[in-house]
Amino acid sequence: MEKQRVCVTGAGGFLASWVVKFLLSKGYIVHGTVRDPSDEKYAHLKNLENAAENLQLFKADLLDYNSLSAAIAGCSGVLHIASPCIIPVSDPKVELIEPAVTGTRNVLKACTEAKVKRVVIVSSRAAAIWNPNWPKDQPMDESCWSDKEYLNTIKNWYALSKTEAESEAWEYAETTGLNVVTILPSLIIGPMLQSTTNASTLTLVKIIKDEAEELVNNDLRIVDVRDVAGAILLAYEKPEAEGRYICSAHNARTQDLIEKLKTMHPISNKPKKITEGEDKHKLSSAKLQNLGWTYITLEKSLADSVKCYKEKGILD
Ligand SMILES: NC(=O)c1ccc[n+]([C@@H]2O[C@H](COP(=O)([O-])OP(=O)(O)OC[C@H]3O[C@@H](n4cnc5c(N)ncnc54)[C@H](OP(=O)(O)O)[C@@H]3O)[C@@H](O)[C@H]2O)c1
Repeated sequence: MEKQRVCVTGAGGFLASWVVKFLLSKGYIVHGTVRDPSDEKYAHLKNLENAAENLQLFKADLLDYNSLSAAIAGCSGVLHIASPCIIPVSDPKVELIEPAVTGTRNVLKACTEAKVKRVVIVSSRAAAIWNPNWPKDQPMDESCWSDKEYLNTIKNWYALSKTEAESEAWEYAETTGLNVVTILPSLIIGPMLQSTTNASTLTLVKIIKDEAEELVNNDLRIVDVRDVAGAILLAYEKPEAEGRYICSAHNARTQDLIEKLKTMHPISNKPKKITEGEDKHKLSSAKLQNLGWTYITLEKSLADSVKCYKEKGILD
């Protein structure tokens, strides 16, 4: 049987690298888009098992339709993961919103042209949770959308870029009939395959290295990178997958995380002034679990993250 050909956008990123690894291990042929194939930061992709035979890297930018179209041609599926994750930004429209929204539109248009059978788009919890009208005691599920006007008011540009990109995708799917599924992960932690640190990894590293005398004990929603990659493959492979899927495994307070991390790595015992952060809505991943999704424990995810950071010298 001919192997299936799938395109992964932003293949060298934290999440996408795991997706490429899983696809290659399952025998897929992968077209990975990267902005500069000659950059040493993508060396890890070439070293993945089966990469020599089954991974082809394409130079593509989200704002360049032709480059995306060339990478997507001949593929039966597309996993659209590339999107800028930059906080803070000096020009939100140019740095975040344009690449996220125009990039998604370009990917979808190229999918129609290539007669792609299914597109899985990685959105974010950020496209669901910023909704001041959601009832306080009700867990947030896939029916909850972030309020764009509210995001503008609070200047949460990353969340706005993800909300606009996902709503654009659903409008496009409704108009054209393209088969689209979206995944909305919470904060992604876990071991990195790539050599450069991404924004969510830095969030955990900052908690581990934090020497500050004050701590805001926030309510965090967390998921392991390998579990998100698993969810993306499930959403791609299961014929019955449809609509949006929240992908969040664990709820923890910053202070609880620190206690768990202390058993794995020396963390400052300096007494801190602790301010309690706001309680947040629970995020329900029941829909994804009904599709067959399972996840690893928070303890394993943290232990594997710390092990990886130590090996890469990130905690020195
Ligand atoms: N990490 C999280 O906590 C989290 C949570 C929810 C959702 N997400 C979503 O998950 C996806 C992957 O995030 P990540 O954590 O893996 O971050 P990451 O490592 O920073 O990956 C982002 C990827 O997007 C690519 N990219 C950015 N701008 C681009 C452009 N103009 N043209 C082409 N490629 C571009 C980057 O390419 P380069 O390699 O060339 O820079 C990189 O490969 C994103 O859609 C993000 O919004 C992440």
